[in-house]
Amino acid sequence: MSYEQPQQPPQPQQPRPHSAEFFNETRDYWWNADFLRLMAERLEFAKVSRVLDVGCGVGHWTFALAGVLPQTARLTGVDREDEWVSKAAQRMKDAGLGDRCEFVRGDAMSLAFADASFDLVTCQTVLIHLKDPKGAIREMMRVARPGGLVLTVEPCNMASMGVFSSVSDSLPTEVVAANLRFQLMLQRGKRALGLGFNSLGDLVPGMMAELGLRDIRAYMSDRATPMYPPYDKPHQRAEARQWKDWHAREHWVWDRATTLQYFLAGGGDEREFEVLWEQAGRLMAAEIAAIEAGTFHCGNPHITYLVAGRNA
Ligand SMILES: C[S@@+](CC[C@H](N)C(=O)[O-])C[C@H]1O[C@@H](n2cnc3c(N)ncnc32)[C@H](O)[C@@H]1O
Repeated sequence: MSYEQPQQPPQPQQPRPHSAEFFNETRDYWWNADFLRLMAERLEFAKVSRVLDVGCGVGHWTFALAGVLPQTARLTGVDREDEWVSKAAQRMKDAGLGDRCEFVRGDAMSLAFADASFDLVTCQTVLIHLKDPKGAIREMMRVARPGGLVLTVEPCNMASMGVFSSVSDSLPTEVVAANLRFQLMLQRGKRALGLGFNSLGDLVPGMMAELGLRDIRAYMSDRATPMYPPYDKPHQRAEARQWKDWHAREHWVWDRATTLQYFLAGGGDEREFEVLWEQAGRLMAAEIAAIEAGTFHCGNPHITYLVAGRNA
């Protein structure tokens, strides 16, 4: 497939549950287990017995947390998508953790739990998808007990977009700048449409402070998933598979129709979109060709904050 000459005019994808494109195997390599144990120690997970994972998806974060929480801790996951709720329950059952967990359908903006129901209320890559992330944090605070912990995991995807690979390293300055401008306009467009801000991680500590959370602490995930030949580590194989799959489907973060929608909402026009989309596709094609040639390398970090605060 060529990005220059699409076979057919782009059509919006069939509606799929939220974030379906992002629940692939790369998500299994987001965390170092010893880093999560360090977080558990710093944030005193030993005192936690009731946990809520908001926007749990298919349970990746619930599963990671379960490994560093006391065996007696009970975990509840909530998501607005029925399909994810049942998949998360199945994942935890398959992992032998089914009796410690329950998953229910619900909305992050209006959680169906009484005030002060949980010791720990958490989310991972959810606030970036919400129109009113501060309102969601407020709701997380409501269902956390006094002194309870609110813990969010949210990225700055603009920063991740600025990372160099062995291919992008040699691009002209104007091309690098244009790719960054493209991504910034897309993120701003998505936000203008009320669909959340993909670089929200930078703003979460300040939001927590404004909302009155105390003892706010911010950390960064210490996990990078470096790519270098022969790409034989499990995380490298997973990344390469995802990139090839996305490229084959003419997908760059989002599908073409969604990307155009965000670009227009971000203040761009169709003519400029064509130029920037083609340029982004060309970079992806070159990176995939370099993987196949065994010349691609990149530190490949996922620039993600863990931010914690306590209720008064
Ligand atoms: C990127 S996924 C993250 C899933 C999971 N936390 C993880 O890290 O794997 C975002 C999730 O938030 C859910 N979501 C989006 N808006 C929501 C809302 N208003 N209430 C509840 N869940 C929501 C989506 O259905 C999706 O499962």
